Amino acid sequence: MLKGHPTKIMNIPFVDLAQQQQRIRADLDRRIGQVLDHGAYINGPEVAELEARLAAFAGCRHAIGVSSGTDALLAALMAKGIGRGDAVFLPSFTFTATAEVVLQCGATPVFVEVDAATFNLEPNHLREAIVQTAKIGQLRPAAILAVTLFSVSLRITRQSMAWRRNTIYSCSPMGHKVSAPATIT
Ligand SMILES: Cc1ncc(COP(=O)(O)O)c(C=O)c1O
Repeated sequence: MLKGHPTKIMNIPFVDLAQQQQRIRADLDRRIGQVLDHGAYINGPEVAELEARLAAFAGCRHAIGVSSGTDALLAALMAKGIGRGDAVFLPSFTFTATAEVVLQCGATPVFVEVDAATFNLEPNHLREAIVQTAKIGQLRPAAILAVTLFSVSLRITRQSMAWRRNTIYSCSPMGHKVSAPATIT
């Protein structure tokens, strides 16, 4: 505060969903109205439509709709057979669900320091964590949950990966932005 200058206090919301909605509000109302009309609230035609459009957008064969971001992470770990004795590497700065699903599978979360600019996994720390875990030998380095926060794309160089077999590269698990890719170069 500068001496002699009047102070004006403003509340700036961290997220302003109402403002975002304004641009698409008419479409939202129309589509929600359609769901109410046909009454198929669970796994209705909109889910199939979203899956098809997302798959086309992402350029992959399938997109599978699940009930939450947490379930999406859990399903990915289960599909890879992650369980007891496995180490899963994840950012030290992330939402609790990232570690929660690892524990739900019976595996052990290993937190890795993040890059100060992107909040993504820092590749050198990641490599070190993998190497150390393998060296200690109590856990099998099994997977990487490479969360991309705040729509910032993730880049991990192949050289930084000392151990890559059976790893999971997960992009924007909760969908901060679907188009923030995790790229391995
Ligand atoms: C990075 C990240 N992963 C997972 C989740 C969990 O998503 P959901 O609340 O839909 O289960 C969140 C939620 O904010 C998240 O930010």
